[in-house]
Amino acid sequence: MALLIGEQSTELLQAQAHVWNHIFNYVNSMSLKCATQLGIPDIIHRHGKPMTLEELVDALHINSAKAQAVYRLMRILTHLGFFVEEKVSEDDSNVGYWLTQASRLLLKDDALSALPFLQVALDPLLIKPWHHMSEWFENNEDSSAFETAYGKTFWDYGSQEPKMNLPFNKAMASDTQLVSNVVTRDCKQVFEKLKSIVDVGGGTGSLAKAIVDSFPDLHCVVFDLPHVIAGLEGTKNLTYVGGNMFETIPRADALLLKCILHDWSDEDCVKILKKCREAIPCKENGGKVIIIDIIVGNKKEDHKGIETQLFYDMSMMVWANGRERTEKEWAKLFIDAGFTRYNIVYGLGLRSIIEVYP
Ligand SMILES: C[S@@+](CC[C@H](N)C(=O)[O-])C[C@H]1O[C@@H](n2cnc3c(N)ncnc32)[C@H](O)[C@@H]1O
Repeated sequence: MALLIGEQSTELLQAQAHVWNHIFNYVNSMSLKCATQLGIPDIIHRHGKPMTLEELVDALHINSAKAQAVYRLMRILTHLGFFVEEKVSEDDSNVGYWLTQASRLLLKDDALSALPFLQVALDPLLIKPWHHMSEWFENNEDSSAFETAYGKTFWDYGSQEPKMNLPFNKAMASDTQLVSNVVTRDCKQVFEKLKSIVDVGGGTGSLAKAIVDSFPDLHCVVFDLPHVIAGLEGTKNLTYVGGNMFETIPRADALLLKCILHDWSDEDCVKILKKCREAIPCKENGGKVIIIDIIVGNKKEDHKGIETQLFYDMSMMVWANGRERTEKEWAKLFIDAGFTRYNIVYGLGLRSIIEVYP
């Protein structure tokens, strides 16, 4: 057999295992999705202590003949770090499933829950474009595989379909809740001395709310597409403004762009950044743009972290013609848009804060 020439059988078998692992990679996501649909993290959380398989099957109100299937679902999710097995009796004879930090992040009613994001990212609506990726590579009309699948861009689809727009905004808001917790606690210096800030593409305003809560002297504008902010009420120091960032952005000491530029091509990013430059004070008066996004490979030793950043990069390509960027690629965008320097603030896990100055 041609493949065997010059190969040790162990290497060949390892290669086969590697291929199998990647063929079945989706099993991780789908098993996790199933567990959240069944409400398993919440059931265990309500139970308040490690839960045996029998107790879990009972609480799930499913046919007891499915107990083996629940065991197998829990086995893979325990392997993946979403649950741990802990003993429930002194003699070690019986174990129960308990939550880990990761499954705690999937509880339904937790303010920091990543569940809305999981629900959107694994919805068949956003899975479908992946089946059109190769078709998109071969056609020259569509900006993304999403457009190949649905005949319109992600943003146009969202503006016309509340069934996508609402869960998507909820998912972004839940992610922002977590990020704002860290940003307002550990990265205070980024917002100090500012009097006004515009959260460009700020969605429904969860980051802006956290910022004005932490910095009550700061006035914050949430700027997003009119349909996203429709019906939202501001407060004394928070205002909602509808518009298009490719046309005009409201003026402020600083502009914040969280998870915005990764949605767009380099060409579009330069257009947005030029509009940002027009909206902030000059270098001497301390204007800046604050970007919260991924810098690909920012933690070189973290193989899994880089893989996750690359997953995100591919998702941006498939859904929105966007991309995640290396530091070098970011630097080029800043120069092309007329900025002179930038400063990276680490400490946001897979993402970073980049302060960009005119
Ligand atoms: C990935 S979401 C990020 C939302 C928010 N910054 C966050 O991180 O939670 C991108 C946001 O950009 C907004 N957006 C898209 N096109 C826009 C445009 N042309 N002008 C203003 N906002 C836009 C979307 O409505 C959406 O809220």
